[in-house]
Amino acid sequence: MPVILGIESSCDETSASVCADGVILSNVIANQTIHEAYGGVVPELASRVHQQNIVPAVQQALFNAKVDKNDISAVAFTRGPGLLGSLLVGVSFAKAFALAKNLPLIEINHMQAHVLAHFIDEPKPAFPFLCLTVSGGHTQIVLVKGYFDMEVIGQTTDDAAGEALDKTSKVLGLPYPGGPMIDKYARLGNPDAYKFPEPQIPGLDFSFSGLKTSIMYFIRDNVKLNPDFVQENINDICASVEKRVVTILLNKLKKAAQMYSIKDIALAGGVSANTGLRQGLTQLGGEMGWNTFIPKFEYCTDNAAMIAIAGYYKYLKGEFVGQDIAPLARMPM
Ligand code: KG4
Ligand code: ZN
Repeated sequence: MPVILGIESSCDETSASVCADGVILSNVIANQTIHEAYGGVVPELASRVHQQNIVPAVQQALFNAKVDKNDISAVAFTRGPGLLGSLLVGVSFAKAFALAKNLPLIEINHMQAHVLAHFIDEPKPAFPFLCLTVSGGHTQIVLVKGYFDMEVIGQTTDDAAGEALDKTSKVLGLPYPGGPMIDKYARLGNPDAYKFPEPQIPGLDFSFSGLKTSIMYFIRDNVKLNPDFVQENINDICASVEKRVVTILLNKLKKAAQMYSIKDIALAGGVSANTGLRQGLTQLGGEMGWNTFIPKFEYCTDNAAMIAIAGYYKYLKGEFVGQDIAPLARMPM
């Protein structure tokens, strides 16, 4: 029975997970609150906090799983994409642990792992399926033909969906990270209060920079007329912004599903924690006759359980890497 230790450190979450025979036994996530004061992730600070958190996170993951470090069969780690300084901490830890215990090493692509989070719990999607992966750094529609056979069929040409939400929230004066704050206020507002433009991008690609700019101008112009505009209308602004982002994402997903005649549709990445997106996909799925797959909240944002489950499938294939492996800030699917 393979027991995989998964390590994730690509951005600002230090996470460790234990997976035994394809079952997640623990998933410890240490969030970094230090970035709140700066309104965004500061890469240099992120790597320092990873350095402090990585050993306690792994110890806690082993403790929660009731697994001894001598019972680990292999170490899976995020090789990329991500912040290089952050990745270095997880990669170095994984290499040191594997060297000390004479274990095989398994490299994992963070974006593939977000998709493979769907193989943690039942029900699991059937190949081929489409996965809309939306995070702070990526917005992709992925055609998933096998565990590690994935093709990006649509992606953002500029900003990611999460980035647009985070920047909007910053302009609104809300604390970082912005996505969850927009989600919170949007629940109390009218999504049709303000109309923001839908970009006309051909094919399955996305663009969010024009939308982001129009939101900035909208807020700036209204604040000039009424300095309390944001405070008085925060719920409606958040609901309207969220609605536009969700409709952009779902319209392209619908187009992709029709182009590829696929009915198994999944959602992944940090933005898939968004209430409006989850409800929107469930509703659209009902109308289209799709089987929709939405992971549990803790498997949406960055976590090591997705790294451990991906590691499990690579372990079964016997796909290991050597101690000379290095992280990659950019890593294609
Ligand atoms: O996948 P993730 O944890 O990290 C990256 O790989 O980027 O995604 C983080 C993104 C951030 O933009 C954050 O604001 C967004 O996910 N996010 C949300 C929610 N929770 C996290 N966006 C909207 N609603 C949420 N509830
Ligand atoms: Zn991520």
